[in-house]
Amino acid sequence: MRNIGFGIIGCGLMGREFASASARWMHLQDMRARPEIVAVCDTNPALMDWYSDHLPSVRQKTTDHTTLLANDEVEAVYCAVPHMLHAGIYSDIIASGKHLLGEKPFGMDRGQNAAIMALLHGREGQLVRCSSEMPFYPGAQKVIDFARSGALGEIIEVECAFLHSSDINPDKPINWKRMVDVNGAYGCMGDLGMHVCHVPLRLGWKPHSVHASLVKRVATRPDASGARVPCETWDNATITGTVGTGAAAFPLVLKTWRIAPGESNTWSIRVLGMEGSAEFTTKSPRQWRFMRYARGGAQCWQVEDLGYQSLFPAITGGIFEFGFTDAIQQMWAAFVDELAGGDARGFHCATPDEAAEHHAILTAALESGRENRVVDVEYAR
Ligand SMILES: NC(=O)c1ccc[n+]([C@@H]2O[C@H](COP(=O)([O-])OP(=O)(O)OC[C@H]3O[C@@H](n4cnc5c(N)ncnc54)[C@H](O)[C@@H]3O)[C@@H](O)[C@H]2O)c1
Repeated sequence: MRNIGFGIIGCGLMGREFASASARWMHLQDMRARPEIVAVCDTNPALMDWYSDHLPSVRQKTTDHTTLLANDEVEAVYCAVPHMLHAGIYSDIIASGKHLLGEKPFGMDRGQNAAIMALLHGREGQLVRCSSEMPFYPGAQKVIDFARSGALGEIIEVECAFLHSSDINPDKPINWKRMVDVNGAYGCMGDLGMHVCHVPLRLGWKPHSVHASLVKRVATRPDASGARVPCETWDNATITGTVGTGAAAFPLVLKTWRIAPGESNTWSIRVLGMEGSAEFTTKSPRQWRFMRYARGGAQCWQVEDLGYQSLFPAITGGIFEFGFTDAIQQMWAAFVDELAGGDARGFHCATPDEAAEHHAILTAALESGRENRVVDVEYAR
């Protein structure tokens, strides 16, 4: 099995998730290659010790990402930094010729995403993907396969949601994800939008227009000193898009909520059709529900316990449960498989084009929510 030298830029919450997934690569079976983290970069030097303590392969620690990019041992980079830094650092990574799995939203706003996209032309040999791990849950894969099989018939409605609840506490301290100048004006949509757009876009469900209801509930939050400071970002967004035209048109509902009472990290997808329907939620991680309907027949939902039927085979017995850290590892398996010449078993990570399309949707949604009107989605040609 080939080792692929990886560098991590941004050693916070998500950098550690990748490091953990790579450290238990033996969990996966029949992989073509394995990631070896050889270099890490963060402007906060204290964060990098955790990596060198746990990963003997880390030979470079730097506070300057250009130093990491000059390292010949680094073939591919995972970048997980605050949104305002995506355009600058992703552009440097792409220009360096190294492969990139970049975190969403892949540019803080549409303009910054366009700057990244402009650099990708003519770089066919360089693999660039955008992080989005929730569709790698077995139940999500079942819903995707069900839709791809044509079982839905005429589509009635599609809904994809990502719900968090911790922001319901107005005393939760502010962090960069609640600051417009660091997270972007999309607010919760920039944070969670790629998660809800990934599967609809992959299945070809591109809304041509949207209406968004944006909710702002918590106006101030405590900072590190305890003083209350403005919290400007949108808390919740409910976007209703229209896919298709005429009699075949259907609503695509996308929910990105940071204030969803009782929800910790719930990602769900539900597809409703005239002949078949299916749904999956991470609240019931081992199950998916589906219905096949024949005209005049009974309408019976079936529930199947899937256990651990992952896209990339793993050592875990099929009776056991799949969770968030497994979804992260499966996403990494898809990226590494592509790097090693595979087809990611038919479900590759989100592409730069899909990230750009999600920016088109979010940009229209932001305009719609601010002005309370339906806005056409303008996709790049
Ligand atoms: N896929 C997911 O489920 C998921 C979940 C959370 C966050 N994210 C995304 O991951 C990215 C990072 O989020 P996070 O939660 O890990 O944030 P975080 O704040 O925990 O980590 C970001 C890190 O970037 C570092 N950093 C800042 N400037 C830097 C620079 N110039 N060079 C190198 N490092 C620098 C910070 O010091 C920090 O350690 C964001 O794009 C976010 O949207 C994805």
